[in-house]
Amino acid sequence: MKLLAIESSCDDTAAAVLVDGAVRSSVVASQDAIHGEFGGVVPELASRSHMRDIAPTIERALADAGVTIGELDAVAATYGPGLVGSLLVGLCAAKAIAYARGLPFLGVNHLEGHLLSVLLDRPVAFPYVALLVSGGHTSLYLARALGDYALLGATRDDAAGEAFDKVAKLLGLGYLGGREIDALARHGDGAAIRFPRARLKPRDGRRRFDFSFSGIKTAVALHVREHGAAATARADIAASFQEAAIDMLLDTAFAASAACGAPRLVIAGGVSANSRLRARAAATGADAGIEVVIPSPRYCTDNAAMIGLVAHLRLARGERDDLSRNAAAIADLAPRDAAR
Ligand code: KG4
Ligand code: ZN
Repeated sequence: MKLLAIESSCDDTAAAVLVDGAVRSSVVASQDAIHGEFGGVVPELASRSHMRDIAPTIERALADAGVTIGELDAVAATYGPGLVGSLLVGLCAAKAIAYARGLPFLGVNHLEGHLLSVLLDRPVAFPYVALLVSGGHTSLYLARALGDYALLGATRDDAAGEAFDKVAKLLGLGYLGGREIDALARHGDGAAIRFPRARLKPRDGRRRFDFSFSGIKTAVALHVREHGAAATARADIAASFQEAAIDMLLDTAFAASAACGAPRLVIAGGVSANSRLRARAAATGADAGIEVVIPSPRYCTDNAAMIGLVAHLRLARGERDDLSRNAAAIADLAPRDAAR
């Protein structure tokens, strides 16, 4: 089965071609240069850039895969969650191709794409606990099977990636903030400054594994206001912030894995590209006897291959959407507290 998948939920225009579930091409047109000037994603500019890039990105994905549009068997696109103006561009392009060619169409949840993105590199058996950590999301799921996910916890305020991006801005670093912090922190001392680690109590008597990243963001801002962020101090601030953020992510993720008795922990989403997080997760997993699986960096950040993989698995089960499927800013993946 030759499948075209499209992803445009935020600021990357992406298209991929999968043949019988194997990735033949994966193209990402980044808008970093456009939003970098503003220090964050400007939704109107994102939509316009998607409009400009969507057709060439699809054409390149098809050309790289050596597949013509006439040979496609199905089309899929992210329907949500994300910026509606961005989602609509990829979704409408996919639906238009499906309509014109009379092909099956499937809308895919972006979070499910991240959750299953590890399967693009190698087979990973269910069940697993998945830490989804990106610019828009910081959540823990128990993945029992395809389509069977339980939300174990989520951030109560900012996403971890948002904190990385805000701290990068405070330090006068470039865009994409998380990547810049990752690079700068290699030259700093992670123990130089002790930033606070938020530890949340379960709410309503329920076992939940929630996160909070607003406190550390404020702590870094106060530190910079008080002590400045001279070039000599910036690497230590970056490394100390990164160490605290990783502590919070891993403590909660491993606690959830232990509580669920899950044999493996998957970490996915843009922040899982972080080199220190990857190294520390592997080391902690080895100590705890929990297998840690993280996608290769190109599948950590937004891409269409992960959308194609979900579509491939769901289409194989006979699932289809009709063309009334609309873009959704909010699209939950699992009922909250289904697994307690
Ligand atoms: O998954 P993603 O590409 O888009 C969303 O769905 O949000 O994640 C983007 C986020 C940004 O906050 C970015 O700063 C962060 O992932 N990120 C990183 C790294 N690379 C990207 N954070 C820390 N270290 C990195 N190496
Ligand atoms: Zn994402």
